[in-house]
Amino acid sequence: MFYFVLFNFVAKIYLIMNLTLKIWRQANKNAKGEMKEYQISGIEPDMSFLEMMDILNEDLIKKDIEPIAFDHDCREGICGMCSLFINGRPHGPDDRITTCQLHMRKFKDGDTIYIEPWRAKAFPVIKDLVVDRSAFDRIIQSGGYVNVNTSGNTIDANAIPIPKLDADKAFEAATCIGCGACVAACKNASAMLFTSAKISQLDLLPQGKVESKNRAEKMIAQMDKEGFGNCTNTGACEAECPKGISLSNIARMNRIYADALVSND
Ligand code: SF4
Ligand code: FES
Repeated sequence: MFYFVLFNFVAKIYLIMNLTLKIWRQANKNAKGEMKEYQISGIEPDMSFLEMMDILNEDLIKKDIEPIAFDHDCREGICGMCSLFINGRPHGPDDRITTCQLHMRKFKDGDTIYIEPWRAKAFPVIKDLVVDRSAFDRIIQSGGYVNVNTSGNTIDANAIPIPKLDADKAFEAATCIGCGACVAACKNASAMLFTSAKISQLDLLPQGKVESKNRAEKMIAQMDKEGFGNCTNTGACEAECPKGISLSNIARMNRIYADALVSND
């Protein structure tokens, strides 16, 4: 037991990291931002990336420097709030995870880490690393719902049989957490992966089919209005999505939209 504790203690000291952080600082939406350099020491490999940011902020507060604003909430990959562009990748140098699930073991002692906000016209910076992602809310508000007749004659949802494959595909689309990494990864800042996931999760179920075409038209119109770019099929969104949302959702959305345009003619 003694040797086990001693081994862990020595290993911990050996693995402790000192890092250089280059972080985007911007006082507010209209201010000019810039990268600022910070040194941080004593970082353990088992710490999460956001814990490392907490330690940095505690240090800055002690030095009477304004702490760095960054988004977070659940810290377990569910809410989609965390949104850091780390060393050129949304959510950092690991696959299928959110920033809050990233651990410092992905870095090594002496590394320089670049930390920036999502970069997109439709996601303006509010402060430092926090961006305004309310454009996503407006896309959902424009059509990402199902109208239900509550007259008293409504069929219980559980009474409508749904093929397992459709239920699984709808569930997969519904795992989109609205983080915006797909937009940040795309050279065109396209929101097609997000919008198509929100359309697909409803369209794959019988309850969502009724408003299918209308929904696609409204949500795509809102997406364009918000200033997101077009999809040019690079696949960067799917590669960087923490939930592995498939590009096939974009193909489905395009099919529904094309159908809607033809029916309007
Ligand atoms: S599609 Fe993926 S990357 Fe885009 S918002 Fe949803 S979870 Fe985030
Ligand atoms: S803080 Fe909720 S997903 Fe990262």
